[in-house]
Amino acid sequence: MKNYRVLLIGSGGREHALAWKLAQSPQLDKLWTAPGNPGTAVIGKNVPVAATDFEGLKTTVLTQQINLVVVGPEEPLVNGLVDWFAADPALAHIPLIGPCRRGAQLEGSKDFAKQFMQRHQIPTARHQTVTHDTLADGDAFLDTLPAPYVLKADGLAAGKGVLIIDSRDEAKQQLRHILQGLFGAAGDKVVIEEFLQGTEVSVFALTDGEHYKLLPEAKDYKRVGNHDTGPNTGGMGAVSPVPFVTPDFREKVEQQIIRPTIRGLQQEGIDYRGFLFFGLMNVAGQPYVIEYNVRMGDPETEAVMPRLSTDLLDLFDGIARRTLHEKTCDIIPDTAVTVVCVSGGYPGTYAKNYPINILPDMPDSLLFHAGTAIREGKLVTAGGRVLSLTALAPNIAAAREKAYAALTAIQFKNSHHRTDIGLDIAPAAEPRHAMSAPPEE
Ligand code: AMP
Ligand code: GLY
Repeated sequence: MKNYRVLLIGSGGREHALAWKLAQSPQLDKLWTAPGNPGTAVIGKNVPVAATDFEGLKTTVLTQQINLVVVGPEEPLVNGLVDWFAADPALAHIPLIGPCRRGAQLEGSKDFAKQFMQRHQIPTARHQTVTHDTLADGDAFLDTLPAPYVLKADGLAAGKGVLIIDSRDEAKQQLRHILQGLFGAAGDKVVIEEFLQGTEVSVFALTDGEHYKLLPEAKDYKRVGNHDTGPNTGGMGAVSPVPFVTPDFREKVEQQIIRPTIRGLQQEGIDYRGFLFFGLMNVAGQPYVIEYNVRMGDPETEAVMPRLSTDLLDLFDGIARRTLHEKTCDIIPDTAVTVVCVSGGYPGTYAKNYPINILPDMPDSLLFHAGTAIREGKLVTAGGRVLSLTALAPNIAAAREKAYAALTAIQFKNSHHRTDIGLDIAPAAEPRHAMSAPPEE
């Protein structure tokens, strides 16, 4: 039954992937994306309303008779969009996929997230929160830690608010710089953390506030250069599934992290409906929370959605009606490899408006738009992360091969991508030498 008229908020590759998945649902009547991108424009209709323009979103919801709102990025959630809908008699009946303002504090304030984890005994790095007035405590805490030192601006800083520093003296200096405004008001408080040594993985769940469904996990590649070199970006690629996420590790994550988080939110009276993104560190087989996000990851969504065989809109229906436990969430066993094509120079300065040429004989893969625009009828670059491409295959090596073969069909001036996505977690290409008989003495 085509019963859902959906407004999807956001404009990145994540939103294109969500739109692509929603469009497969027999329950979808019509999809609008605000503001969307050229990719979402061919799936539904884009409306020129910014993700943080609450009045503009309200007008769209009322004029198009929207009956479900899906929030892609964190900013409208941290700004209280869900509470704002609930307080407006014209909108209060419309379900949103995304948490209320207090729930969104899990991402909006690193200090809030750390205190929440402490209250609910959720494994995370030891920390100390510091303000101008407690600078001496910060210095003292740094004196107790071995290098390297992790400093995090408390508030949203567009993914740039974390410093990892080798020298203690420099850490003390940078602590002062952050408090003095290096990351703006986001740094009025700073969380100092113990450094965790391990491998990162992004784990995603959908919750109706009581029940949850685990989505496929993914590994994100944050640095701009091959083998994790160069500055941090929004994400240069993703792989799902992640081989070290064994049934045993997943069980630890559910028991020690996901269930206590959802129970904790309930106990604190926080109505959390939407995505929960656990940024985890696997420290010798033990999961620790590095960060919470209150949305899906980007580019992880582009690797996760193609692995979901379940109807995403049906899961959202379960969230809207709080019947998520009645739904099934089926996952395709294949591996998805996503590679992001970025503008040369990103994450620093880069040029825009270069024409994008996509060759018609592109091999089998999924193309998701992010920083693209249509100018005078032509597709051009319009952002740092321009396009991403996902290939599915029975294993990482085959998915990599497919993704990189398809990538040659995308051409624009100064385009850049990493060539090593998935390489670090792919089983060695050459079979290991068979165990030979021990040498004779
Ligand atoms: P966050 O924004 O909190 O995810 O931090 C950005 C990145 O910094 C993470 O993806 C990790 O690579 C790294 N990081 C953050 N906290 C820690 C920690 N306590 N130990 C080691 N690395 C960390
Ligand atoms: N790819 C990491 C994030 O979306 O925060």
